[in-house]
Amino acid sequence: MMKHYLLAPGPTPIPPAVLQAMAQPIIHHRTPEYEALFAEVRQDLRRLFQCRNEVLMFAASGTGAMEAAIVNTLSPGDAVLVVRGGKFGERWAEICEAYGLRVISVDVPYGKSVDPAAVAAALAHAPAVAAVFATHSETSTGAVHDIQGIAAAVRRTPAILVVDAITSLGVVDLPMDAWGVDIVVAGSQKALMLPPGLAFAAVSDKAWARVPSARLPRFYFSFTAEKKAIEKNQSAYTPAVSLVVGLRESLHLILAEGLPAVFARHDRLARATRAGVQALGLELFAEHPGAACTAVKAPTGIEGGAIFKGMRARGITIAGGQGSMRGKIFRIAHMGYVADFDVLTALAGLELVLGDLGYPVERGASLRAAEEVLGHQERGEA
Ligand SMILES: Cc1ncc(COP(=O)(O)O)c(C=O)c1O
Repeated sequence: MMKHYLLAPGPTPIPPAVLQAMAQPIIHHRTPEYEALFAEVRQDLRRLFQCRNEVLMFAASGTGAMEAAIVNTLSPGDAVLVVRGGKFGERWAEICEAYGLRVISVDVPYGKSVDPAAVAAALAHAPAVAAVFATHSETSTGAVHDIQGIAAAVRRTPAILVVDAITSLGVVDLPMDAWGVDIVVAGSQKALMLPPGLAFAAVSDKAWARVPSARLPRFYFSFTAEKKAIEKNQSAYTPAVSLVVGLRESLHLILAEGLPAVFARHDRLARATRAGVQALGLELFAEHPGAACTAVKAPTGIEGGAIFKGMRARGITIAGGQGSMRGKIFRIAHMGYVADFDVLTALAGLELVLGDLGYPVERGASLRAAEEVLGHQERGEA
């Protein structure tokens, strides 16, 4: 028998209450029953996104919401500024290029986080920029970016700020209205503790003001069509009904724990993971690591892929490096339905696998270091 542990940065584990809700017989979406469910979900989504306006929902992976943010607010030939510090920052640029936008890049070396002053300087050089695209939690490098700082630079300009929060929503604080972020996009299979298949876009008044004059082509991903439907407590097209049923449960779980406690839990698990890997003499890849996943440099002489394959052979799914980071790093996620013993399982597995690969492991060192962080927190210490 093999027992599986899912500690990859998406999809993430799903709580039993959510699985049970989704296993119920499907309901029809043009019914009072669905409308009651949808009304509740809409309200809870606004609390999660910390925004006043409706959160739009599409049956798609997170990339669908990224594309929706672009096609609803921009016109062919518009200039956009893209912060590129990893695979997902690069994805913003790729989608913008696919739609014929003029991309100005603020490039950040992999593993580093952007200095908001660099965004402000780039905006000062290119005042016609219509939108700035950034990634809150760059899952490919494990780095978190200073969205509050970037928002402070962008809100002084006519540009809108569009943020990929796919692995930061429900992980770290992102009060979009308070910070002045214009579009926040997210996906279901990360901290929302659901299967893949729902994409979200929360849209500020400043971004909505762009929609009527934006000329990029769109049909399924039309913000206007969804808004019109939401006003009738409906969705424009057939929603992913079972996922929305699960979403109601996962939002209940998140909001019952309370956003500050959810953020504190992710922070604690991230600190325990970092302490654990560093106790084994390993180095973190990100200069400013986020709380969604910890990217670790593979030790000299050991291929990163061998570590994540070895973990998988022992039943633990983590992630390797993407693109040019392939073989150089591995990533342990601690996002969503995760708790102390998930981190300890990952670290114990890592010790065994590194030992198998000939790395000199002081057995138990990572667990001691992680427990030090977790134990202190239980006693309410900083
Ligand atoms: C930061 C970030 N952006 C975008 C994506 C793409 O999301 P999806 O695979 O749901 O389309 C991911 C997925 O891992 C991600 O972590």
